Amino acid sequence: MEILKAEKLVKTFAISEKQRKSLGIKEKKKIAVDGISFTAKSGEVFGLIGPNGAGKTTTMRMLATLIKPDSGDALYNEVSAVKSPTEIRSKLAFLTTDLKPDMKSTPSIMFDFFAELYHVPKDEAQKRKKTLFEEFGIDKFADTMISKLSQGQRQKVSLVNSVIHDPKFVIFDEPTNGLDIIAAREVREFILNMKKAEKCVIISTHLFDLVEKVCDRAAMIMDGKIVVEDTLENLMQGRPLEDAFYDIYTEHMRNKGEM
Ligand SMILES: Nc1ncnc2c1ncn2[C@@H]1O[C@H](COP(=O)(O)OP(=O)(O)O)[C@@H](O)[C@H]1O
Ligand SMILES: [Mg+2]
Repeated sequence: MEILKAEKLVKTFAISEKQRKSLGIKEKKKIAVDGISFTAKSGEVFGLIGPNGAGKTTTMRMLATLIKPDSGDALYNEVSAVKSPTEIRSKLAFLTTDLKPDMKSTPSIMFDFFAELYHVPKDEAQKRKKTLFEEFGIDKFADTMISKLSQGQRQKVSLVNSVIHDPKFVIFDEPTNGLDIIAAREVREFILNMKKAEKCVIISTHLFDLVEKVCDRAAMIMDGKIVVEDTLENLMQGRPLEDAFYDIYTEHMRNKGEM
């Protein structure tokens, strides 16, 4: 059983004078993440859902050891991401839709490149390539230039490349953002496959339907804080997640005195 525990993660960014002027604000600091804690387990998909600017990407980047929290930690089976980032990186996959594949390469060449990057031994890499390419249907276009592939095919290649080293933890920030409906569907299927393979999967998104379709548990995040965390069933209580979210959002804004 794999367990990821986010413990009181905090991240504050300094706001430059230029940013302050363009945004018309006086604050010199922005608390992007303000004490986020949650637990995710293998065999389930945990979702962080919230509006733009809520702190999802900052949280995911701290989980993935790409930035250090000001305080707090992420414990992967009790191993600290703050103290042992290199060890943690070898156990996780991080994917965002912001990364663009090299158009002049092919899925097969890209796979070899990432396998080397992740220090996967050559014969093991070739075995994994065969299995993963067959599983996701990439074998049919393994030697086609990336530029000639559809968006869905490209996203599949990125997904497969992110799990070359057989990580136990899978962290996807806005995994379907900007994808067409076919590509988004393939990403959802991939997420569910990872869950079936007993990975601990954490996704962040602002899309309710993605959470409804793949998540077992979810936390709603606003202004850098988790306002509610529960099983999907308990969060929805028989109505669409969007309606449940809106009720919580209205209450949150009312408490802040903004509605
Ligand atoms: N590098 C940064 N410098 C300054 N502010 C930042 C930086 N990164 C994020 N922020 C701010 O922190 C808040 C949370 O951002 P982010 O984590 O990207 O939210 P989300 O992914 O939920 O849209 C936003 O107000 C954003 O403008
Ligand atoms: Mg984001």
